[in-house]
Amino acid sequence: MSNYLSATVTSVHHWNDSLFTFRTTRDPGLRFVNGQFVMIGIEVAGKPLMRAYSIASANYEDHLEFFSIKVPEGSLTSRLQHLQPGDPLFISRKPTGTLVLRDLKPGRRLFMFATGTGLAPFMSLIHDPETYEQFEKVILVHGVRRANELAYHDYIEQDLKDHAYLGEQIRQQLVYYPTVTREAFRNEGRLTDLVDSGKLFADLNEPPLDPVTDRGMICGSAAMLKDTAAMLDKYGLKISPHSGVAGDYVIERSFVG
Ligand code: A2P
Repeated sequence: MSNYLSATVTSVHHWNDSLFTFRTTRDPGLRFVNGQFVMIGIEVAGKPLMRAYSIASANYEDHLEFFSIKVPEGSLTSRLQHLQPGDPLFISRKPTGTLVLRDLKPGRRLFMFATGTGLAPFMSLIHDPETYEQFEKVILVHGVRRANELAYHDYIEQDLKDHAYLGEQIRQQLVYYPTVTREAFRNEGRLTDLVDSGKLFADLNEPPLDPVTDRGMICGSAAMLKDTAAMLDKYGLKISPHSGVAGDYVIERSFVG
């Protein structure tokens, strides 16, 4: 298993029946850019069983944090949901991914569009001081089916505003817009519909999407990526064609929900 770094689980938090967060130790040799993912796994029958996870913690933290769905029939997540502090994990040595600030052209507003556990890389990015240096306003839209899937809701709405180093920038520049599709909530509907109808902008008192000033990052299911990318295309934003070439928006192509 020398292709992998070793890590130890330090804490596990279950948000509800289907979502959980876990923290691990971080090998000092593991360097990453906020927004990237790693492969995580455990040893099963002498072989590593791995899958991609976006890192939800920022790259200046001593620990790593991950946000996962529990899939009863998922070979790895069905095991990972039973993780306990002290359990060993493998983590790939080379973080990678396309959801990085350096692949965005300069702009004024940054829209982060997430559904479900697609929130994970944005949890890292909203802790990155660069995010607030590069953009005047950061609008994080998180869409879920049910309100109890709004993991990190209270943390983003309350705790983050008192963050020791970033609190002031977060209070002034970060806007959080949670939305729910399958039950009543203060914001309802798919994020694509909320943009198209203009409701998102009306609710936030912001002007509509403008390719001159706006940049985007998208993370969610394959269908959500496709539809949200098509929506940004329609508004005239151009996707970063591949890593290293800046565009108006980036998507995480390797995300697995
Ligand atoms: P909906 O309830 O209308 O399907 P999932 O758990 O399936 O990934 O969905 C998470 C959230 O993403 C749900 O609110 C879901 O809405 C929404 N969603 C699913 N597919 C899309 C899509 N193609 N475009 C935008 N939002 C989507």
